[in-house]
Amino acid sequence: MNASGPLCTFENELESLGQSESGAIVLKSTTMEPRTGNERPKYYENEHGSINSNGLENLGYQKYCELIPKLKQFGKPIIPSVCGFSLSEFETMVKAFDKAGADVIEINLSCPNIIGKPQVAYDFEQSEKYLSAIRSVTDKPLWVKLPPYFELIHRQEMAKLLLKNKMDGATLINSVGNSIIVDPEKGQAVIKPKQGLGGLGGHYVKPIALGNVWTFYNELKGKIPIIGAGGVYSGKDAFEFFLCGAEMVQIGTAYKHEGPGIFSRIKKELDAFLSLKKYSSINDVIGKLKVVEGEEYGFTA
Ligand code: SIN
Repeated sequence: MNASGPLCTFENELESLGQSESGAIVLKSTTMEPRTGNERPKYYENEHGSINSNGLENLGYQKYCELIPKLKQFGKPIIPSVCGFSLSEFETMVKAFDKAGADVIEINLSCPNIIGKPQVAYDFEQSEKYLSAIRSVTDKPLWVKLPPYFELIHRQEMAKLLLKNKMDGATLINSVGNSIIVDPEKGQAVIKPKQGLGGLGGHYVKPIALGNVWTFYNELKGKIPIIGAGGVYSGKDAFEFFLCGAEMVQIGTAYKHEGPGIFSRIKKELDAFLSLKKYSSINDVIGKLKVVEGEEYGFTA
């Protein structure tokens, strides 16, 4: 499926996702009010990946609630993504999407691009408060979109919070926040907002994403599915995410580059690679990463 991010803000983009082979329609992270987001240039891409500081450009949650019944015609799960600026905003939007018929609601605790609003998911106390309160306002499946964690103890701590608060999915990872790409010719950062700081995606981040998926998979022990994201451009990339324990993948940078045709290409490539390697289904792959025996990574929950 697409990642909440590029090409999922406007009605025509969501319809194109409906007509594509994306397994779901994931909506751009929404706020209470419509937003035009940060100033341009706010997106840049090269052969290694992308940097964005979109700033949550979106139509506001009420518009997306209105669109849900229309998007249902495509017969696939509709997944709004919610990014409030306070707990009560999250609660209001989650309740509204529940009522509007969302199939899954993704809670985005990891947008790096709003000045003065640090990513909630790096604050474990605040995350716990948010997750438990949001859990109590809906029975719909809740996925949590997380940033990359670099310390194993942080992955373990967040995994425990997801289990404790009965979350239904972990989307790993959002972009690697507060990165910079420099144009050496101009001696200048390639995007404008936050003095050039933005979220890194694409090939640049795949190893970071895979490391997060693998340790969360070991901590969650299959109790909560993982949706892998970060550098999926091909069927083999998707295969790597499945090996590390993801059950689904989301595509951001490569989808923006290639458009909705990417979903059928990646499916075909994945099917071909699975048959070449003689796997009968994706279930034979999930979490089956081989590692050199004898080394533990330090803890298990
Ligand atoms: C943005 O709109 O700035 C990106 C959203 C995100 O990374 O969560």
